[in-house]
Amino acid sequence: MQSQSPKDVYSLVLLPGDGIGVEVIDEARALLALVEPRLGVRFALDDIACGGKFYLEHGSRDWPDDAEARCRAADAILLGAVGWAGADGQPVMMKDGKMAGWSPVIGNRIKLDLYANVRPVKVLPGLRHGLAGRYAEVWRAEDVDMVVVRENTEGLYSGMGGILDTGGVRSVATDTRVITRAASAKVIRRAFEISRERGRGAPGDGKRRVTCVVKNNVLYGCKLFLEVYREIAAEFPDVEQDVAIVDAFAMFVLTQPQRYDVVVTTNMFGDILTDLASVLQGGMGMAVGCNVGDDHAMFEPIHGSAPPLAGKDRANPMAMLLATGECLGWLGRRFGDERLIRGHRAIEAAVAAVVAAGAPLTVDLVGAERGAPRSAVAQAVRDQVAAQLA
Ligand SMILES: NC(=O)c1ccc[n+]([C@@H]2O[C@H](COP(=O)([O-])OP(=O)(O)OC[C@H]3O[C@@H](n4cnc5c(N)ncnc54)[C@H](O)[C@@H]3O)[C@@H](O)[C@H]2O)c1
Repeated sequence: MQSQSPKDVYSLVLLPGDGIGVEVIDEARALLALVEPRLGVRFALDDIACGGKFYLEHGSRDWPDDAEARCRAADAILLGAVGWAGADGQPVMMKDGKMAGWSPVIGNRIKLDLYANVRPVKVLPGLRHGLAGRYAEVWRAEDVDMVVVRENTEGLYSGMGGILDTGGVRSVATDTRVITRAASAKVIRRAFEISRERGRGAPGDGKRRVTCVVKNNVLYGCKLFLEVYREIAAEFPDVEQDVAIVDAFAMFVLTQPQRYDVVVTTNMFGDILTDLASVLQGGMGMAVGCNVGDDHAMFEPIHGSAPPLAGKDRANPMAMLLATGECLGWLGRRFGDERLIRGHRAIEAAVAAVVAAGAPLTVDLVGAERGAPRSAVAQAVRDQVAAQLA
C-alpha cells in the first residue's frame, strides 16, 4: 500500500471528544512528543474539539464547521471517544436526531470512506482477566491472536431511517440496513489481504482463514454479503473459507478463540462482537479500532467516553496508546517510513512489557486494591518506549 515517500512532518488531527476521550488523547499527545526526537520525525498536531460537550457549548454542531476539511487534509486522525449527557441525564442529541459526536466518529467513517474497521484481538502474556470480580488468566496468549474486520460505512449505522409521529405520539421507528455489493467487496477483500499479510494463520492450527460472520439464514443483506465473500474467497485459494452464524459465533469467539485468524462481518455485528471479544484481551481499555480506507485513516480505542470514570485518573490508557502505535504503523507503511514502523513496534513492546510486569496497571486489569492511576500507567508505557528506542 506504499504510495508515497517519507515526510519530514506528518500532520495528525486529534479529536479528544468527551469524558475519558479527552484524558486518553492527552496521553497519546505525550507519547507522540516522546517518540518524535527518538524517531527523528515531527508531527504537526491539529486539535479539534468535538462531541457532546462541544454541542452543548456551541449549540449547532458537534464540531467546528471546518473540521471535516481539516480531517480530510490530515495524514491521519486520532480519536479519543465521544458521548456526553445533558442536564436531564440523557445523551446529548442534535436537532437532526443524531447523537452529538456523530460527526467525528460515524461521520468521518462514512465521509472519508474508512470502509474497514480493523480490530486486533490478542491476549498479551501475563494478562489476567477480570471476570465477576476475580482476576485470573482465563485465555492464554498462545490461543488468542485474531483480527476482526468490521464493515464501517453502512449496515444498520447508515443513518437511514426515522421516527413517525402520529397524532403527537412517536409511534413508528425504522432503521434501514443497507448492504451493498461495493462496500461488502472492499471490506471482504481487505480481510483476505490481512490474513495473507499476517501470514501466521489461526493460533490453533496455523491455517490462514477468513471467517465470515453472518445471519444469512434470515437476513437478505447477509445473503448478499456471503455471496460476495464466496466470490472474493475464490481469488485467495491459500486462505481457508469459513462461515459462522452470528449468534453461535458469539459463543465460539470466547470458547474456541484459537480457531480464528481473521473475521469479517457487517457493521453492527462487528460493533457488538468486538466489545464481546475485548473480554479476551482484558476489556475495552485494551481494545483498538483502526478505521482504514484507501486514502485516509482514523485510529481510536474502541471504548466510549465512560462518563463515570471521567476526571478520576482511572481510565486505562493502553487502548489509546496502542491506537497511536497502529497509527504510526499505518503511516509508516503508507509513506515507506521505517522510523514510524519502529515507533509502532516500540509502543507494542512497551505495552506488552508493562502488562508482563503486572504493574502499574489500571483497576479494570487488576482490581480496585492494586489499581494504579491512568497517569502512572501511561508514564510506565512511555518509560518503556524510551527504553525501546534508546
Ligand atoms: N467511538 C466512540 O466514541 C464511542 C464508542 C462507544 C460508546 N460511545 C459513547 O460513550 C458514552 C458511554 O457509553 P458506554 O458507557 O456504553 O460505553 P463505554 O465504553 O464508555 O463504557 C463501558 C464500560 O467500559 C468501561 N471502560 C470503558 N473504557 C475504559 C477504559 N479506558 N478503562 C477502563 N474502563 C473502561 C467503563 O467504565 C464502562 O463500565 C455514550 O455516550 C456512548 O454513546 C462512544
